[in-house]
Amino acid sequence: MKKPLVVGNWKMNLDYVEALHLVQQVGVMLKNKPVEHVDVVLVPPFVDLRSVTSIVESERIPVGVGAQHVNANDAGAHTGEVSVAMLKRLNVGWVIVGHSERRAAYAMSDDVVVATLRQVVRNGVRAVLCVGEVLEVRDEGGENDFVKAQLVSALKGLDPKYHELVSVAYEPIWAIGTGRNATSEQVADMTTHIRSVLAGLAMPGIHVLYGGSVNAENAGTLMAEGRVDGFLVGGASLKAESFLSIVQSCNDCYDGKR
Ligand code: PGA
Repeated sequence: MKKPLVVGNWKMNLDYVEALHLVQQVGVMLKNKPVEHVDVVLVPPFVDLRSVTSIVESERIPVGVGAQHVNANDAGAHTGEVSVAMLKRLNVGWVIVGHSERRAAYAMSDDVVVATLRQVVRNGVRAVLCVGEVLEVRDEGGENDFVKAQLVSALKGLDPKYHELVSVAYEPIWAIGTGRNATSEQVADMTTHIRSVLAGLAMPGIHVLYGGSVNAENAGTLMAEGRVDGFLVGGASLKAESFLSIVQSCNDCYDGKR
């Protein structure tokens, strides 16, 4: 089993004062109850990144810090956007690429996803590539083909030297923020499918996460029975207690309790 990875996507929540409060709470809780076997990443809004990375560094909190999005270009006339170089200056080590909310609401096409992913890894930053189908696709039984097409589009031809910088998060859109998580069986089936697509792309070793209404109650079962390597967590990452109990469930699984 790979060392689990748990990524907390705060989305457009928590201003920088609230962000400081949450990251400090996470730091205290991790100090009181260290989690040896899980990599933890916090992904705040852009405007919180500077404060969050400063606290993480000064208090040596054992978490990575990521951004929710980045522009695919190096620099220039892209009003409202942020570059990977800017993130690197803040010691941001991760970027979520192609989240379904960005694909759906901000016209992030497959081409933009490819360009963004390449820009991220070329700069030595880790990418969490999000894939997942809408409900109509699943109702028609088309989820495997849909997810395969997204993976192939984003990853085919990626230079092998960047493979270790990529993780994949399967996030069925019907499960995001709905309180309706995919069942362990659905997650296990899709995880197996994604691993076989990745093997076909000569990327067998990368982490496959699940996201979509993960919480403290369902994380243990999803991890044990869904055969995932961790989670991308939205709503439940906004409170230190719920986020860290998800992290703890992964830690217990890794400890051989899966
Ligand atoms: P959720 O969000 O946990 O609130 O469903 C997951 C995500 O969109 O990454």
